[in-house]
Amino acid sequence: MSRTIGVLTSGGDCAGLNAAIRAVVTRAVMGYGWSVKGIRYATQGLMERPVNALNLGPRAMDGQMLQMGGTILGTVNTGNPFAWPLPDGSVIDRSDEVLEGLTLLGIDGLIAIGGDGSLRILHRLMKRADLPFIAIPKTVDNDVQATDRAIGFESAVSVATSACDSLRSGAMSQQRIMILEVMGREAGHIALATGIAGGADAILIPEIPVSLERVAAAIQARCQREERDWALVVVAEAVRREDGRLVTDGIVGEKPHFGGISGYIAERLGVLTGRVARATVLGHLQRGDRPNAADRLIASSLGVAAVDLLARHSRDRMVAWQKGEVVDVPLDDVAGDPRLVDPQGSLVAMARGLGICFGD
Ligand code: F6P
Repeated sequence: MSRTIGVLTSGGDCAGLNAAIRAVVTRAVMGYGWSVKGIRYATQGLMERPVNALNLGPRAMDGQMLQMGGTILGTVNTGNPFAWPLPDGSVIDRSDEVLEGLTLLGIDGLIAIGGDGSLRILHRLMKRADLPFIAIPKTVDNDVQATDRAIGFESAVSVATSACDSLRSGAMSQQRIMILEVMGREAGHIALATGIAGGADAILIPEIPVSLERVAAAIQARCQREERDWALVVVAEAVRREDGRLVTDGIVGEKPHFGGISGYIAERLGVLTGRVARATVLGHLQRGDRPNAADRLIASSLGVAAVDLLARHSRDRMVAWQKGEVVDVPLDDVAGDPRLVDPQGSLVAMARGLGICFGD
């Protein structure tokens, strides 16, 4: 049966999106003889008239796509069609326009590569469209429920680990405490993995309440024990100040936009230890790099599996990576809160075994 499917990327960009698009197109065209339409700028492209989409053929299957950061389809992390913001501050529901865009496109099924926020919105939309829908999880935050890995996380951790290596040389040379702030929103997955892989003395994550006095004492004790005068701290962006406040600079897509907690921590650790402390906010460098091998593998596997699900007439499911294998789960299982670090989990226990302080 000849079919045309749509594919889109939604939410913040990250490494591995193009590898996933390539896998979807390759499997659909070569495996099933289908056509693929790439929808540009997610739901925003579906609201445009004509719908902003392009045919994805052999060029999209080029191996170059594996190594390209970003997404050839473009993406958005603002503009919820159910609550579209107007200049006067009010919101309107534009979901009917998105549904009409899907009809105008003439597709028989949709694959969306998105994070927890955008998948929740798309799932709600697709319940109203009479179209099979399959989701592929992506986000450097790695906080999508029911999957051990979301596309983009592994590459973000690689970038942040390299940053630790660079900061350590400066810390050692100038006897400083270096604080690296990483992304992740309310989830500390990037900070935890980076802190372990990058050899941090302290990892501060939102899931574990932090006492900076304890962090300072742990740094002093470690410096004394190991006869050194430097330390490395990795902090997740949504860690709170001692007064309980989050460090944010506005709202993006209905969520707080974090950034800058490392500056506060540097100032406080400087006072508490009497040492010089410096903060680095790694920011979007974590998202724009070339995808590493692990992300290319995960993206390729999830892309192929998503098309196979459509071929089996599945709908409203997410392909997921669990224990090194691809599975699929109902989208309803994914719709809840973000997946956070388990403070009692094995990774945190292992980090403690390495002598890493969590500030608790
Ligand atoms: O959700 C992905 C993410 O990179 C978060 O880790 C970060 O807080 C946020 O997006 C940054 O958003 P923006 O790209 O709008 O600055």
